Amino acid sequence: MEVAFVSAPGAFEGQALAVLAVEGQEFSANARQHDAASGGALLRAAAMRGFTGKAGETLDLIAPPGKGLSSLCVIGAGPKPDSLAVERAGADAMAGVRTSGADILTLDFDVPPALAAQAALGAVLAAYSFDRYRTGPSPYGDTSITRVEVVTGDPEAARAIWASMKAVADGVILARDLVNEPANILHPEEFGRRMAALAALGIEVEILGEAAMEALGMGSLLSVGLGSRRESQLVVMRWNGADDPAAPPLGLVGKGVCFDSGGLSLKMAVDIMEDMKWDMGGAAAIAGLLHTLAVRKAKVNVVGVLGLVENMPDGNATRPSDVVTSMSGKTIEIINIDAEGRLVLADALFYCAERFKPSFMIDLATLTGAMNVSLGNDLAGLFANDETLCAQLLQAGQDEGEQLWRLPLHPAYEKQLDSRIADIRNIGESAGRSIIAALFLQRFTAGVPWAHLDINPVVWAKTGTRAVTPVGATGFGVRLLNRLVADYFETGA
Ligand code: BES
Ligand code: MN
Ligand code: ZN
Repeated sequence: MEVAFVSAPGAFEGQALAVLAVEGQEFSANARQHDAASGGALLRAAAMRGFTGKAGETLDLIAPPGKGLSSLCVIGAGPKPDSLAVERAGADAMAGVRTSGADILTLDFDVPPALAAQAALGAVLAAYSFDRYRTGPSPYGDTSITRVEVVTGDPEAARAIWASMKAVADGVILARDLVNEPANILHPEEFGRRMAALAALGIEVEILGEAAMEALGMGSLLSVGLGSRRESQLVVMRWNGADDPAAPPLGLVGKGVCFDSGGLSLKMAVDIMEDMKWDMGGAAAIAGLLHTLAVRKAKVNVVGVLGLVENMPDGNATRPSDVVTSMSGKTIEIINIDAEGRLVLADALFYCAERFKPSFMIDLATLTGAMNVSLGNDLAGLFANDETLCAQLLQAGQDEGEQLWRLPLHPAYEKQLDSRIADIRNIGESAGRSIIAALFLQRFTAGVPWAHLDINPVVWAKTGTRAVTPVGATGFGVRLLNRLVADYFETGA
């Protein structure tokens, strides 16, 4: 999607034009201009429909009289047109006309440059669709818009702001593409190859195969891939952009289960097994983030560790009751191999802590179905053993529209992880599953301050209820972590 910032709306045949309405305010001068150009149709329609400018409210005039526009839309921004409201308006405008046949969407929102860029971000993210495997037209409509024009008083300033926002959009799109890919295409080795290609951006990429992981003693991670024909991979990605390249990095660890059948603890059809291609959404978010940080040359040191495996049933697969030795030396009794994400993260977290001595670690994982039961599909779960990091994450999520909700690392549940024959078992009783999973992970963090994001609820948008996240992979986590880095961890920013 091409994005341009202009000082006045161009007049094109077949263009879709959108203006912004703030709830409780008169239409802006430019909205009134477009109304006048269409012979007053806009204000008449608004009055007839009782349009008030609530967030999400839209009014579309198809082929209004006058300039030959394809459509003229008013988008409600709610009472306070802040950055998230304007972003959403940009997204709503795009969602309304994406497949309409128009090829240019002009956002004439009458907002300052920073908000103009934010509107563009909303429009670009709302224009996303994954059509790689279509050989004909999409039954859901093909995207006709190829260009977004945003009107603003200072296009130069908007362009400068957009440069880093575009890096964010591209990171989100990379993450979405990875998550939308089916598991026969995006298996661990292919995921690894795609990460290796990011070296072109200045990211250092190292890939450890099974032999290397065996040498490191990663019996926990490796136990998950034993039933798969695909080789498990550990991808280490480093972006060293801080003024001091030797400063301790932020450690990010991603669950990258390219497909989770449950292994010998096989999921059932009612479990919607086909969803489990997105069980690598944590790893994808970290990939997208590193892309963003590298493109915008963020002044920060970050290391991403992605545990990439496929969880399949097979004669060689891990059996429920097997005992494995993790890299930390702790032995794990695997009661349920469908609780595989924590087995992957146990070794990936410990490896990250031990090798890189990060200032803190954050892991992202589609870890538990119970998280969706608790939070619904608009919030991700946050567990943290560091109050500062926790507060920063909550704030970043709030500011960026990728909201988190904190849950407890309740010590009383630790004893559920006791094993009769090993140091720890990989599941507890049935209640409090998300918490118990987090307590399991904490045992492998080697004392590094840590937060765990259970992104299971938000990795996939079933209905596309938010225009900014159309149906399918959301790319959740890229924006959150980019904001965390930008607001709290960049040197000299
Ligand atoms: N990847 C799944 C999480 C999941 C479960 C996503 C259901 C979507 C729907 C994870 O590996 C898993 O299977 N978790 C189990 C853990 C249980 C066996 C302790 C779960 O949440 O049911
Ligand atoms: Mn599982
Ligand atoms: Zn899983």
